[in-house]
Amino acid sequence: MRVVIQDNYDKMSKWAANYIAAKINGHKEERPFVLGLPTGSSPIGVYQELVRMNKAGEVSFANVVTFNMDEYLGLPHEHDQSYWYFMHDNFFDHLVDMKPENINILNGMTDDPEGECARYEEKIASYGGIDLFMGGIGVDGHLAFNEPYTSLASRTGVRDLTTDTRIVNSRFFGGDPEKVPAQALSVGIGTVTDSKEVLVLISGHNKARALAATVEGGVSQKWTCSALQMHNAAIIACDEEACGELMVDTYKYFLDIEKKERL
Ligand code: GLP
Repeated sequence: MRVVIQDNYDKMSKWAANYIAAKINGHKEERPFVLGLPTGSSPIGVYQELVRMNKAGEVSFANVVTFNMDEYLGLPHEHDQSYWYFMHDNFFDHLVDMKPENINILNGMTDDPEGECARYEEKIASYGGIDLFMGGIGVDGHLAFNEPYTSLASRTGVRDLTTDTRIVNSRFFGGDPEKVPAQALSVGIGTVTDSKEVLVLISGHNKARALAATVEGGVSQKWTCSALQMHNAAIIACDEEACGELMVDTYKYFLDIEKKERL
């Protein structure tokens, strides 16, 4: 696992955007680049930087297929808290060459949630899997909507949100946890770890415990993000604030090894 520690959120975002753009640009034309994407506040800076690069002609999305991590069950596209809305509002609508038919987001209004999830997995497989899955994590370490104690082998499916997550996410629903949907559709931990590369963004004081659990804790379904330890090409891009619970030797180790400035 690589842990790339940047001074602040802005630098973390730029580092991750550059990493993703370089991967897209380095990809062969015969097959589209398949990119997994998250929602939340963590990736907003990356999206802004990728949009800037796209408009400046530094990266093209013409040959990129995207799969989003998750979607609330029961929210229509036009709901301003649906992840469909978030992704278009914060990213897709601003790209000059993203093809709408290459955007995949689980349908939260489906009347067949299990079928929708099975079809999503099949569609990912039809592209030969995901090249790079970018993610964020919740304060309890959830990756996508894989809450604590979700199987580390899980596939795309329906997830019950914990009370904690509904409370945390209520900031987007007028502060009322009851207004946060109780269920979501989400890729599984196994879906994410099957990707060729995984890049997870972790920033801010409130994620410090989760970062320490992800990097230093044992692999455990209690912290579903810890499954990244079993992936052979996982990167965590984080900021200084998120490092507050790391042991000093862990922190020094990753700063030292990244001094080589590999991209
Ligand atoms: C939600 C999403 C996750 C996301 C998490 C953290 O629960 N389902 O995919 O990683 O929020 O969000 P933020 O980046 O805003 O802290």
